[in-house]
Amino acid sequence: MLRSDPQRVRVLGIESSCDETGVALVDARAGRKPELVAQALHSQVELHREYGGVVPELASRDHIARVLPLLNEVLAQAGINLGDIDRIAYTRGPGLAGALLVGAGVACALGASLDRSVVGIHHLEGHLLSPFLGDDAPEFPFVALLVSGGHTQLMEVSAVGQYVLLGESIDDAAGEAFDKSAKLLGLGYPGGPALSVLAERGDAGRFALPRPLLHSGDLNFSFAGLKTAVMTTLVRLGTSVTQQDRADVAASAQAAIVDVLTRKTLAALRRTQSDRLVVAGGVAANRLLRKTLADLSTTHRFILHVAPPALCTDNGAMIAMASALRWQRGLDAVDGPTLMFDVRPRWSLAALSQCLAPL
Ligand code: KG4
Ligand code: ZN
Repeated sequence: MLRSDPQRVRVLGIESSCDETGVALVDARAGRKPELVAQALHSQVELHREYGGVVPELASRDHIARVLPLLNEVLAQAGINLGDIDRIAYTRGPGLAGALLVGAGVACALGASLDRSVVGIHHLEGHLLSPFLGDDAPEFPFVALLVSGGHTQLMEVSAVGQYVLLGESIDDAAGEAFDKSAKLLGLGYPGGPALSVLAERGDAGRFALPRPLLHSGDLNFSFAGLKTAVMTTLVRLGTSVTQQDRADVAASAQAAIVDVLTRKTLAALRRTQSDRLVVAGGVAANRLLRKTLADLSTTHRFILHVAPPALCTDNGAMIAMASALRWQRGLDAVDGPTLMFDVRPRWSLAALSQCLAPL
């Protein structure tokens, strides 16, 4: 039987778009900030490491193996039974089709067996709203810098579900730029965190790496040239490259990425006359990016919101939180389980603004 307390929902979130299986529970009551109650996460980093990147079929199979044990862990942490869940949210896209289908299938099967509503959530909306998981929930409107492994976008956000694209990468995403530079430096997968650790010991001023589109007059990014510049620099250093050389290349590459991201972000704040910034996505865990934006928020007088580093990368909590915030605003007005589902491996976030429920 459907639970129908209009004042409260306990939302289960399932994330399976790429190489992390995430499950979480968020408790949402009308008029209050939703609270994260429990979460469990399994990273597939070890599984994919020997291949130097994510192998989609292996990712899907591992999601299948992990999702129910993670669900049980979340129920145990929260001290509730399956029947206490009111709503089930899963990542509908964008991401790897097979991986997405695992989360969607499990969510819809749970919804059918428990007779609960099931909603598909946009992965980037999950990232964008992830600061609500911390103590420092933003007020609307704000500008969002979304920096993940697959996307780099600046968004003007007027409310939950209202997203206008201001600019985006025309080629590689910032996370990809980190990962590809890391690969060239022999740091393996996933490269971003490893590159930033190596960069701590390097001289960011030693190599002047390109900062494309900095003066393009728009808010778009281009990072594809960076990996070529890193490669050329390493070739020039030749076989006698030292650990210090590698650290200097890492620091210079990180500086170039952070420089472009922060300058375009400042331009977006100016253009929208906004004084509030949300930074989200895996690259938002980067120490230099966080510090640079924190410093700029003082000098340029804007309010910065960024989720704790562990919640910047993929997780189920952000999917549950996005669903809870949408429920509070009467979006996704589904009532009951759905026996049909699809996933959207390619899906623009701005498309959410055009309809109340993301069809
Ligand atoms: O949001 P996310 O977990 O997955 C996607 O939706 O793509 O982002 C993953 C990306 C990867 O490219 C990873 O290298 C990068 O975020 N990343 C970092 C750091 N932590 C994760 N990049 C730089 N510094 C970090 N500390
Ligand atoms: Zn992500």
